[in-house]
Amino acid sequence: MCGIVGYIGKRDVAPLLLEGLQRLEYRGYDSAGIVITSPKAAGLKMVKAKGRVRDLEARVPKRFTGTTGIAHTRWATHGAPSDINSHPHLDPENKVAVVHNGIVDNAQELRAKLEADGVVFASETDTEVITHLIARSQATSLEEKVREALKVIEGTYGIAVMHADFNDRIVVARNGSPVVLGIGEKEMFVASDVAALIAHTRQVVTLDDGEMATLKADDFRTYTTSGATTTATPETVEWEAASYDMGGHDTYMHKEISEQPDAVDRVLRGRIDDRFSTVHLGGLNLDAREARTIRRIKILGCGTSYHAGLIGAGLIESMARIPADAEPASEFRYRNPVVDPDTLYIAVSQSGETYDVLAAVQELKRKGARVLGVVNVVGSAIAREADGGVYVHAGPEVCVVSTKCFTNTVVAFALLALHLGRIRDLSVTDGKRIIEGLRKLPAQISEILESEEEIKKLAEQYAGAQSMMFIGRVRGYPVALEASLKLKEISYIHAEAYPASELKHGPLALIEPALPTVAIVPNDDLLEKNRAALEEIKARSGRILAVAHQPQEKADHTIVVPKNEDELDPILMGIPLQLFAYHTALAMGRDIDKPRNLAKSVTVE
Ligand code: M6R
Repeated sequence: MCGIVGYIGKRDVAPLLLEGLQRLEYRGYDSAGIVITSPKAAGLKMVKAKGRVRDLEARVPKRFTGTTGIAHTRWATHGAPSDINSHPHLDPENKVAVVHNGIVDNAQELRAKLEADGVVFASETDTEVITHLIARSQATSLEEKVREALKVIEGTYGIAVMHADFNDRIVVARNGSPVVLGIGEKEMFVASDVAALIAHTRQVVTLDDGEMATLKADDFRTYTTSGATTTATPETVEWEAASYDMGGHDTYMHKEISEQPDAVDRVLRGRIDDRFSTVHLGGLNLDAREARTIRRIKILGCGTSYHAGLIGAGLIESMARIPADAEPASEFRYRNPVVDPDTLYIAVSQSGETYDVLAAVQELKRKGARVLGVVNVVGSAIAREADGGVYVHAGPEVCVVSTKCFTNTVVAFALLALHLGRIRDLSVTDGKRIIEGLRKLPAQISEILESEEEIKKLAEQYAGAQSMMFIGRVRGYPVALEASLKLKEISYIHAEAYPASELKHGPLALIEPALPTVAIVPNDDLLEKNRAALEEIKARSGRILAVAHQPQEKADHTIVVPKNEDELDPILMGIPLQLFAYHTALAMGRDIDKPRNLAKSVTVE
C-alpha cells in the first residue's frame, strides 16, 4: 500500500528510482512522483503524475539529473488520485519533500491548526501535514525537524524526507509501515520493501517501529524517534533479483501460478522426518510439552490468507484433534475477544505487513497470548512480532492477487497439523500417509497446470456471466470462498461462495440458467451429499462447472483433478480455479496484475 524508494550516492538517480517504482508498483498504482537533488544543486526538482509509473516516466524531462532522490507510487486514502495529491509533497518554499506510506489519523485536526496559522495546503492528503510541520520546525538539524513533526503525528507512517538545505542526506522514519534500508558501496537505498533494492544490494536493515535513520552516500545511522542510537546489523536477503522478473510470462499472475510445483517443493524441503513420520519446523519455538497443553487454535488472517487459515483450521482439527477455527483478523480485534491462555493464536499473512493482522497480533501479545506466524516474507513485521512460526517459502509474489502464496500457506498448515498431530494422537500410519500425500503434490500440481488449455476454453465460455455461485462442503467450502474471491478480484464478475449444504436455505432462489455454479466435488465421504446439491441446481436449470476427481454427470463441465489424501485435496482443487479466474479475466480484457481499487500489502486499516 504505497511504495517508497529513495537513493543517495553518485549514480544518476532518476532512472534508478523509476526502476525501483516499477518494482514497487504492486503496492499502489493510482499516481506516482519523484523529487531529486544533488550536492551542487540549488533546490529540489520534482515531477508527479496521476496514473501509472509509466505516465510519470513520460513526464520526466531529459535533463532531470541528480544523485539524491525519493519517489513514491500511491494507493489513495486521503484525496482522489490526481497530480496534486501524488507524493512527494513539498512545502510552499520547495525546501522540504516528503513521501509517506500510512495514514495520519489526526490529519484533520493538525490541518485545521496549521491553516489557522496561515498555512495554505496544496493537496487534500494527510501527508502534506507532515511536510508543513517539518518546514515550520525551528530545529537546526533535519533529524530534529522530522522528530519534532513526528511527535505530534498520530497514525502510521513509513516516511522519507529530503531538505534543500540538508542535501547530503535522506531522513527516514517508521511507525507501522515498512521501511527497509539498502546498504551499498558508497551509496544507500531506502524502500518499502526489498523488491526495489535487490537489483542493487542484498545487504538490508529493516527499521523497527519508532526507529529513524539518516542515510548519507557513504554512511547510515539508526536511532529512535526520541534520539537514542540503535544498533543496526545488515542482513542478507535470500531472494534473487530474477524472482521479480516476469520470466517470459505475460503477467506475474500467470508466472506465479506456474511456479507452484517448485514453490510447494520448497516449503516441504528439509522438513520431512520419515523416521518418525513427522516434520521438523525449526522456527516454531514450541516444544512437545507445550504443544500438548494447547486446548484451542485460533487462526487470524485477511482475504486469501484468511481462506488459507480456514483450510488450515480444518487440517489441524482433523490431524491434531485440537479445536481450531479461523477468523478475519480485521474483525477479531474489534470484538474485544476473550484471550485464553490455553489458546494458540496463529497469524497468517503473505506480506507479513497487513495492518489488520499486525494490529491483532500486537493486541494479543499485549494480553499475554502466544502467537505464531505463518508468513511468506522473511523478517517482515508480523514475522518479527510473532513468538515463532513457519515460513511458507513461496518466493516473492508480485501480482496483487495471491496464488502461489495461498497454496504454500495451506501446505505450511498441513505441515503444522502433521507436526502437532504426531505429538498428540496421529498414528505413525496416518503420519506416513500424509507425508506420501505431501510428496505427491508438486507432480499433481504440474498435472493440473497441463490442463490449462482446457480450462481456458471453459473460462471463455463463462466469461459473459454477470454473476457466479461457488459451492463446496466442509473442506471444499474454503476452496469455494477463495475461488470466488479470485474471480471477483480480477474479472470484476460478482461471485458468491456458499456451503453447498446451505443452498436450500436461501441462495437456491438465485439459481437460473444465467447464474452458473462452480461446485467443488471431491471424492470423499461427502461425495453423495455434494452430488445431491448438483441435482438441486440442475433441477432449476442452473449451469454447473464441477471441480472433481471424476466427471460429474449432473455438471455441464467437469475439471478433473488428481486425487490425493482427503485432507490434502483442497490444495489441489483450488489450482484449476486460479487458472479459471485468470482466463476469465483475460477474456474480459482486465488488467490482471493490477486490478482496480486494490493493492498488495494493505498496510493501512
Ligand atoms: O499479505 P497478506 O496475506 O496479509 O494479505 C491479505 C490480503 O490482503 C490478501 O490476501 C488479498 O485478499 C489478496 N488480494 C488476495 O488475492
